[in-house]
Order: sequence, then structure tokens, then C-alpha cells
Amino acid sequence: MLTSEAISPDKVKIEKKVEAYSIGKVVSVENKGNLVVVQGENGKMALSKISKGIVRVKLFIGEHPTDSLDMKTTVAVVKHDSEQPDGASIKETDTVFIWDTVDVKVEITKENSSIRFLDVNEQMVAENVSLHWDVNKAVTGVFQTSLNAHYYGLGEKTGFLDKRGERYEMWNSDVFAPHVPEIEALYQSIPFVIVHDQTSPYGIFLDNPGRSFFDMRSQADAMTVRTETGAFDYYYIAGPKLKDVVSQYTTLTGRMSLPPHWAIGYHQSRYSYMNQDEVLELARTFREKGIPCDVIYLDIHYMDGYRVFTFDPVRFPKPKEMMAELKEMGIRVVPIVDPGVKVDGNYTIYQQGTNGNYFCKKQDGVPFMGPVWPGISAFPDFTEDEVSEWWGDLHRFYTEMGIEGIWNDMNEPAVFNESKTMDVDTMHGNNGNPVTHGEIHNLYGLLMSKATAEGLKRHLDGHRPFVLTRAGYAGIQRYAAVWTGDNRSFWEHMAMAMPMVLNLGLSGIPFSGPDIGGFAHHTSGELLARWTQMGALFPYCRNHSELSSIRQEPWQFGPEVEKICKDYIELRYKWLPFLYSLFRESAENGLPIMRPLILEYPEDPNVFNLCDQFLLGDSVIVAPVYRPNTDHRAVYLPEGTWYNYWTGEKYEGKNHILANAPLHTMPLYVKAGAIMPNTESVPSTMSESPENLQLTVYCSGSANGVFELYEDDGLTLAYEQGVFNLFDLSMKETEGQLNLEIKTKKHGYESNRKHWTIQFKHLPIKDYRIEDFAAVSNKEALNHTDSGWYYEKETGELTLKIEQPKKELVRVNVRSV
Ligand code: GLC
Repeated sequence: MLTSEAISPDKVKIEKKVEAYSIGKVVSVENKGNLVVVQGENGKMALSKISKGIVRVKLFIGEHPTDSLDMKTTVAVVKHDSEQPDGASIKETDTVFIWDTVDVKVEITKENSSIRFLDVNEQMVAENVSLHWDVNKAVTGVFQTSLNAHYYGLGEKTGFLDKRGERYEMWNSDVFAPHVPEIEALYQSIPFVIVHDQTSPYGIFLDNPGRSFFDMRSQADAMTVRTETGAFDYYYIAGPKLKDVVSQYTTLTGRMSLPPHWAIGYHQSRYSYMNQDEVLELARTFREKGIPCDVIYLDIHYMDGYRVFTFDPVRFPKPKEMMAELKEMGIRVVPIVDPGVKVDGNYTIYQQGTNGNYFCKKQDGVPFMGPVWPGISAFPDFTEDEVSEWWGDLHRFYTEMGIEGIWNDMNEPAVFNESKTMDVDTMHGNNGNPVTHGEIHNLYGLLMSKATAEGLKRHLDGHRPFVLTRAGYAGIQRYAAVWTGDNRSFWEHMAMAMPMVLNLGLSGIPFSGPDIGGFAHHTSGELLARWTQMGALFPYCRNHSELSSIRQEPWQFGPEVEKICKDYIELRYKWLPFLYSLFRESAENGLPIMRPLILEYPEDPNVFNLCDQFLLGDSVIVAPVYRPNTDHRAVYLPEGTWYNYWTGEKYEGKNHILANAPLHTMPLYVKAGAIMPNTESVPSTMSESPENLQLTVYCSGSANGVFELYEDDGLTLAYEQGVFNLFDLSMKETEGQLNLEIKTKKHGYESNRKHWTIQFKHLPIKDYRIEDFAAVSNKEALNHTDSGWYYEKETGELTLKIEQPKKELVRVNVRSV
């Protein structure tokens, strides 16, 4: 605890004025291969066009021969090739050089080397007014914005959605507590910000995995980006839409590969389930209570003295048999693997690491060692391909037991010393280009997860791996899902999870979520119920809690809370076809699954900082209750017609409404025009998938909407070879009519799905018929036919049953009678 002494006048550092240097005037601008090199008085900038809308700017301080400019990127960047666009030319006026890259125009001011990025209409979108540095070559880039600018992205940060007025540090940190608004760095560092100003939104990605800072506070109308070490290497990412910025950013840093089905089921964890019997008993309880669950996690106590790649022989004497028994119950195991390898001469992994020279070393060549769970440990140098391969292959230990997912923790790396991490002067081999830890600190977790994911893939015989990580850097989405670390069972932390995960999504990381119920401190039944409601609709869904906290499995607080948890976990399983299609969309275009309203309604000022409700895809609003003893809450419904998912009540958007939300109800709204695939709930994704798919179509009389429905085996990589089905669904309403088109874009997978039941909800007029399909006499009759429709006058619901479409185009014409 801190006292007032913390703010004693002696503690205030008086900033010494440091000499600042800048490039100065432009001396020349030349086209050099695929670079545009701007020579200034005191340094150079190399500019390159990466792909549509993306321009890279790399600063070189002092003298650098133009022929040998180092344009290497970090591993974050997958789209390396710079392309000089056809017709690109450099023009000159009295005051500026202009590089026209076709879709982005770059202007460099002769007087001071400032850079402006313009769109095709000659509108200025972004302005890098200065790049300057101090004697230590710590660079500051100033981006002029405006008093109206909003800032999003920046990865995993506390606080609200809009980062205006905030300042953040990028330095992967193990922060057990506190996760409060003034904490500037957490486990993940994603140096990518989206600026949403008066004109088009744009993104700035700083590819520097050392310590950096993003400051939107010191100047109300500017953002400063500062590095401490390494290169000042940034990418300007144009819109014109907010969605384009996110999608383009993931062209640059890569996209999530499609996770296995089971990874998006419900997961149960605890630090720790202590032994084999406890784990099996836990699984049986899920099954007895009929609560869906796909995964149980093994935290550090499964290991022998916290040695990774071992099982404790007393607590877990028969791990392989345990896995087999769990699989019978439809449950997989995901064990934790930390990077710290116990320094123990009798421990094979340590021996291998020492013999192979695989550990990170101080400058004198002695391995860096520091305490973590197993005691003094050494840390693999994942910057070396050989080490990553060794580490990846070690996972055979797990895959041979039937394990297909790994939980990477403590990979900032966390060390129980004064700096809380590896000494910054520790060296990394980096495949022959040695760097200090300080220069690449934020990459350590990503490289560990990369090694893990690639290793699992090598040993899973065509199955998709799942990796969960705590630490990461830009691009981590390619290898792992992210959970947001050691939160607490506070209502405030439940609320904070929304903006945090929303901004992770805007930062290219769609698959993330918090510990449901809270990790540390003690949850209550009410908090668990509310948090499970919300968490059940987050992309990543795991309940996890800490050693000394009160137990928080769904049944720990009596039947009412248990039923609420069960109902919402079941809702997740019912919505899996919908969620899985959103996962696939995200893997294709990088857009988040869970979206802030600003992404879909960027013009609506009501949503600039709205983050206590969110969208799933573009048509479902989730509005959790995140305060105790609360049975109502305000909800904002944007433009359009919306329906209360539970009651069917209709609302016109651009309105705030008061939602009724007793404990068993989390307000949910669906937009007219939505086509939502769903099915019956199953205990686990390992259960036989239901033969019937339900499509719920939300009508209003004048709605239209589209949805891409995706399905595959949910388990293997066969989809990469075209073994999947993809349906383009679209609905359009006109006076007295509704047309639904089902286009089979791809039929490459034989599922056991036999029928689709299409339910048209909220049709505006009474009495309908469907052309070219036979009517049946009652709803029950639909169960006994392959194809037919029934209109229920009392409820106004029209139901159509068809066989699962294969190659043809299915047209459904609904007409009022
Ligand atoms: C860290 C992790 C937490 C885990 C614990 C023990 O605190 O963040 O999730 O349970 O270590 O492994």
C-alpha cells in the first residue's frame, strides 16, 4: 500500500532538457528500387508502399549508405514485399515533394521533413509533423490530430474503449495487481492505434518490440509515439472505413487461423485442479448436471515440482488413462506450459537446453537465470529457430497423450526479481543477428506461442492446434488465443473486460476473453451469474480462479445461479454455428467477432466510447448487467429495427431504451434483417452434431440482410484443402414479400446435417405462403417430412423445412396471401 509519501515533492522528477535532434531539411528524395529514400540533414527516411493503403516509414539516424538500408521487419509483419505501384512518381513543388502511390499520396515538407498522408481526393488524413530523437537515439514521432480525435486499438489496456486523454506503455508485464485505469502496461503489447478523426480513420502501427509509449494525453490535439531502443519503423494504414483499417492491419500482421470447434466451447479452469481424481470428478459433475463443457485446464500443480513437460507421479499417476476417460466424456485437457525451465542437473529438459546451448545468456555467455514457480530457472531463446523447433517438438510429450491444446503463461517472461522480467542486457541469438532482450522484450511471448503452435501442428496428425497465451505482440493472433491475465472478482473488472477485449479485437486479436468470474479475490453467486452470461458470448470463454479464492464452478452457489450459468453456456452451444461462421469470417478478413458499435456505426456519436454493450458480428447486441442488485439497464440501439431476443418486443433504433434485466436475463437484441444459424445445445463439441440446423430470419417488412454460413469438420486442417461448406444467405423484404436466397458457394464437406428449419420471425402481415414448397397441415408434420412449410396464425411464425442445400441455388419466395 502506498501512503502520501508517494507524492512527496522530492519524488517529482524535474525533466532535464535533453537535446533533441531531427532530420532537418530535406536534402534529396530519390527512388531506389522499391523504396523512396528521403535524405535529410541529419538522417534518412525510407518509405515503401506495402499494399493497398499501407505505407511504411523507417527512420535511419545519422549516416547510412542508401544501398544498405536495413528494411528487415520483426516477425510481426507477414506482408513484407514493398511494391512500387504502377505509375508511382515523385513530384516537387516549392515547398513539398509528393509521392503518389495511387491510393495514398505522401507529401514531404522540404523545410522540416514532416510527412502528410492524403487520400485519393487530396484530403489530408494523417500528419506526422515531427520525428526527433535524443542523445540516446530514443525517437519521438508526433502525429497531429485534432481535439475531436478518438483513439482505439492499442491491444490489452485498462480503461474505456476510446483512449483519448490516456497514455500507455508497451512493455509486456506480469501485473497480478492492480488492473486499474492508471496501469499503463499489461501482458500484451500491440503498438497499433486507430485514429478516428473528422476525416477518414487511419491506423499507425509501430513495429518496435522494445519499450515504447503512446501518449494521447500530453497534447490535446496530437498523439506522440516514443521508442526507447531499436528502430522507429511505422506503417500508415489508410481507411477509408474503420473496418478497412482493421482488416488492412491484419493483412500486414496476419490473421487468426480457424480454431478447432472445441476451442470455442466452454472451458473450465482453476489454479489448480490438484489431482487426477479431482479432474475426473469435475468432468463427471459437468455431465451429471448437463452443463456443456469442452475443456478442463491443468494448472501448474499437474507438474512434478513445476518442471514443464512432466506429470507429478503422485497427483497424476496415470495421465494418459485420465485423458482417455475424459475424452469418453467429451472433454479435452489443456495443460499449462511456462517458459522457465527449472535449473536442475537431473532434469532432462534442462540438460537438453544446456547441452544444446538453447537458453538466453548474459553478455558473459552465462545463461540468464531467475526465480519463477519451479525456483531458479533458465529461459529458452525463442529467437533462434533451432531452439523453437526443439521446444515445439518437446510437445510430443503431450500430443502422445491425446492433448491438442497448450496454455502458455508467464511468457512476458515473468521473473520474480526486481525488474519482474529478464535482464534487459540478456542476449538473444536471433539466428545470427544478436539483439538485447531490451530490444525485443515484447516478442518473447509471441515467439514462445509460435514455437508451441508450430510444434503442436507437427505432431497432431492433421488436427488443428489450440494455444492460449498471456503475453504477445502484434501478430500473436496467428498463433494463439489470448486471455487477459489475472483479473479479480470485482464487478469493475467484469465491466472492464468489455473495452479490453473490444480493443484487442480492433488490434487484430479476435479470439480473446477474461477469466470468467474473476481470477483473484472471491466471486459471489450474483457476480458469477452475470459474468457467465456475458462471458458465454465472448469469443474465448473460460472460467478460471486462483488457489485461495472461493470455488466458482457453475454449481458452487446453489441451483438458481447454476441454472443461469447452464442456460447461458447452452446458449453459446446453440449459437455455435453462428459463432463459428463469425470465427471463419474473422480468419478471412481480420474483423473482430465481438465488435464495438463504433465499428458498424462509425458516424454515430452515441457510440464513440460505448463499451458496456457490444455486437456479435453485425446484428446481435449483447448488453450485460455489470453492477450488483441491478435489474434494469440502459441500452443504446443504433440505426435500424431491433428485436428483444427474449420477448420479441420491437424497437426503432437511434434510441436509448431501458432494458428489463432480472438476474436470469441478459438483454440481447437482434437486428431486423439478421439471419442467425443455430442448433440444439450439445454437452460437448465432441458429441454427434445435430442433424437439424435452424435458421432464424428476423423480418420487419422492409429489412434486408446477409450472412455467410460456414461449416467444416471443426477439427482437422482438411478445410485448407477445400473440405468445407460455405453458403451465402441473403434476405430482402419488399411490400408483402420476402425473398431468401441460399447460394451454395462451396460444397466440399459431407456433414451429418440433414435438414434446415428456417423460421421467419416478425413477418409484418398476417397469412403467408411459400411458393414452390408444399404446405403441411401443422407444425408437428414438419418433423415427418424432408421439405415443407407451415404458417402459425396465432404467433405469426412461418417455418420452412428444407434438405441441407448442396450445389443448387435455393430461392425461397414468401408471399402474403
Ligand atoms: C499466473 C496466471 C494464472 C495461473 C497462475 C498459476 O498468475 O496468470 O492464470 O493460474 O499463474 O499458474
